[in-house]
Amino acid sequence: MPTVSLLIPIFGLILCVVALAQLGLWATQSLQISFRNKKQFELAKQLLREQIRKQGDQRMSSARESVSDQAGALASSASPASSRPSSFRRLEVVKLVKETAVCTSVYMRPVDGQPCETFRAGQHLPIRFNLPGLAKPVVRCYSLSNAAGQGFYRISVKAVPAPNNQPELPAGLISNFVNHQLKVGDVVEAKPPAGDFTLQHNSEAPIVLLAGGIGITPMVSMIQEAINENVKRGVVLMYGVRNRKDQVFREWIDQQTATHENIVAVNCFSSPLEDEVEGVDYQISGYVTVDLLKQILPGPECQFYLCGPPVFMDSLSTGLASWGIGEHQIFSEAFGPAARKPRKPTASQPTDSTGAATIHFLKSNVTVNYDGQSSVLEMAEDAGVAIDSGCRAGSCETCLAKIARGQVDYPDGEPSDLGPQECLPCIAVPVGELELDL
Ligand SMILES: Cc1cc2nc3c(=O)[nH]c(=O)nc-3n(C[C@H](O)[C@H](O)[C@H](O)COP(=O)(O)OP(=O)(O)OC[C@H]3O[C@@H](n4cnc5c(N)ncnc54)[C@H](O)[C@@H]3O)c2cc1C
Ligand code: FES
Repeated sequence: MPTVSLLIPIFGLILCVVALAQLGLWATQSLQISFRNKKQFELAKQLLREQIRKQGDQRMSSARESVSDQAGALASSASPASSRPSSFRRLEVVKLVKETAVCTSVYMRPVDGQPCETFRAGQHLPIRFNLPGLAKPVVRCYSLSNAAGQGFYRISVKAVPAPNNQPELPAGLISNFVNHQLKVGDVVEAKPPAGDFTLQHNSEAPIVLLAGGIGITPMVSMIQEAINENVKRGVVLMYGVRNRKDQVFREWIDQQTATHENIVAVNCFSSPLEDEVEGVDYQISGYVTVDLLKQILPGPECQFYLCGPPVFMDSLSTGLASWGIGEHQIFSEAFGPAARKPRKPTASQPTDSTGAATIHFLKSNVTVNYDGQSSVLEMAEDAGVAIDSGCRAGSCETCLAKIARGQVDYPDGEPSDLGPQECLPCIAVPVGELELDL
């Protein structure tokens, strides 16, 4: 019989061997993951080079013409939901999935039992919420984060906190309601899917999806649509977040890149967590920048899709423009009021101080000189005139206003279904002297 003094060292030895084996296994796995992540980044480069070479002699200029000529046709023929929607439909919440601590996906189906309306990836739903205790319903837009034909709509909503410099303000109303109070079985009202930020299927150019934070939602829909429609073009997702706490759909994205050789994802972490390792948990330390794109893409002959916070949109739009990327190659969606799109003045829009357009907000007794680029809604807000708004993109009619005198123009396209003397200030600009019943 071995004595106790003999058993102790034997037991210790066994423990050491087990620990060493575990360590070896962990190191091998880490190396494999690291290798796979590095390979992913290299693959992105290779894939895009290959895609661009395949375009061969096809002159980019003709592809560009084709993009802009066909974009409108595709939007109107392929998307039954591309014209301005008119009526709200009741949708029941059938499932809620917590994607991260501050992001919830909401799955919805029409209460009437009829199918969901079809849509193009990248479109959004204008949704009306009747919150307990509020006199009026509140409308917000949310991009669809699934693709059409699945029998449900899915949106993914990030809870918006109070601004950093004004923590005393209330946190975002609807996004926090969705994240903390919305329940399965609740009913919301939604207009049909809307919006022009859609995947363009009329070019062979590689698709470069640039997502910042919750701007990933329309990109996920686009990846799914590209898969459903068997798109063979290279699809590169550049996903910028602070760290994995902000990353939504990571597992789903990893599955798609693993099973579709034309899809690659490059994760850029600006503030990795202490335990996150470059090459293992993410590929790039830092932001999504045009310099990074220049390293990956052999040239600018791609279609770029942008969605993210204002600072992300601003820096990438400026960077892409200075890289010489034409406007027809860039498609973007801005989430939220902070993201103002600069508008080009139209011929009918006087912009100098001598013949300047003016807006009179009659009920508020406020008159402003038009600045030549803002929407009527933005002019009103800057002047302290309160107008309710939802989508800020002409989809939800929350801002609908009566014209008492004068005319408006719609630089991005005239909405349909407006009554006589009605306008949508969020997308309208004044022509000459405008009087609004506000
Ligand atoms: C086309 C489109 C698609 C979108 N898709 C998505 C999506 O897929 N996912 C997503 O999460 N979001 C999306 N958004 C953004 C979304 O529509 C909302 O803007 C967002 O959820 C915030 O709404 P909220 O009601 O929570 O915030 P709000 O109540 O509108 O508040 C917004 C901010 O203002 C602050 N605030 C509150 N009171 C004041 C005050 N008195 N003065 C100044 N600031 C104040 C709040 O603290 C908050 O930071 C999309 C937007 C658009 C236009
Ligand atoms: S705010 Fe939605 S249409 Fe103007």
